[in-house]
Amino acid sequence: SVTHVVLTGGVGSRLWPLSRKSRPKQYIPLFEGKSLFQLCVLRNNLICNDLLIVGNESNRDLSVQNLKEIHQDNFNEIVEVTPRNTSAAIAFAAFSLGNEAVMLVTPSDQVVTGEKEYERSILEAISLAKENYLVTFGIKPSRPETGYGYIEFQDNDVVSFREKPDKKKAEDYVKSGRYLWNSGMFCFKADIFLEELKMYEPEIYNFSKNAFENILENKLNLEDSNLIPSKSVDYAVMERSKKIKVVSADFGWSDLGSFDSLWEYFDAHDDGPTRQNLVLGTNKHVEFLGVDNIVFVETDDAILILPRSMSQDVKNVYERLEREK
Ligand code: GDD
Ligand code: MG
Repeated sequence: SVTHVVLTGGVGSRLWPLSRKSRPKQYIPLFEGKSLFQLCVLRNNLICNDLLIVGNESNRDLSVQNLKEIHQDNFNEIVEVTPRNTSAAIAFAAFSLGNEAVMLVTPSDQVVTGEKEYERSILEAISLAKENYLVTFGIKPSRPETGYGYIEFQDNDVVSFREKPDKKKAEDYVKSGRYLWNSGMFCFKADIFLEELKMYEPEIYNFSKNAFENILENKLNLEDSNLIPSKSVDYAVMERSKKIKVVSADFGWSDLGSFDSLWEYFDAHDDGPTRQNLVLGTNKHVEFLGVDNIVFVETDDAILILPRSMSQDVKNVYERLEREK
């Protein structure tokens, strides 16, 4: 049996001020009344037998409410008290599922199209996971995005994995045709993941294990959690493991993680002339004079203006504001 593990702990800091701690983007009902989180659960329900949500205290009610709305009564959850990044979040899920369990780990904030193709890729990944591989899903790159991981591939084999390269490297990777984007979804057996984590990041492994052993009513505690080094699974495991495979994804995929990717998404889905600037979140009429490639975002209590090329840096603004609170 296969468990769908949903990671829903991130705040979407690169979409500030659209995405807030109190209302992360994955819960906003943007798609025919459904949220990305709901669509993610429904899509994987067709393939997986169980559902495990790894989220945090501040979005727990939103997750539960979202699940209720789609009549998803059967699920398990792990509630973090502070984000310690995806290595720890996946480790908690792996400890709770144990050994041979096959996990399909997905973010909760992506747009996926092509149900049949999606299912085919997942089934291929599950069979590789059963052969003890850590399986990634590779997307054909359409621009030198620096916010993604790049998978150098030969058929299903992974030659190398490079998380978030600089612009120059990203350009080379895309030009070479030998790289795919990492989708951020993974498939593996719990014990294989934990073995690799233990080998490459023993501290994350040990402190996550300790925290999980002290968990009470699905909720971690703050003291234990703070000891866990915060590192994404891409840097911690995927860049180093020799057991990685890649399934090339034929399905449509967009990660709406930054203003740059939103821009790309709108360009692909809106008709009309190619846009010069992007306006989000406001009903006001906005004019631009003598500038292009600008993102303008207005919400009730904040305005953000940036050149498109700085989309990845929005998280620095978010982090500074959090510190200054
Ligand atoms: N539970 C929990 N706890 N979930 C978390 C945490 C955490 O501490 N941190 C992040 N997440 C969730 C996010 O909500 C998101 O659904 C997923 O884990 C991935 O985290 P992101 O922060 O969105 O990662 P990223 O976009 O920078 O990079 C990843 O995704 C890219 C594709 O979208 C990497 O896997 C890249 O290699 C990949 O290209
Ligand atoms: Mg992301």
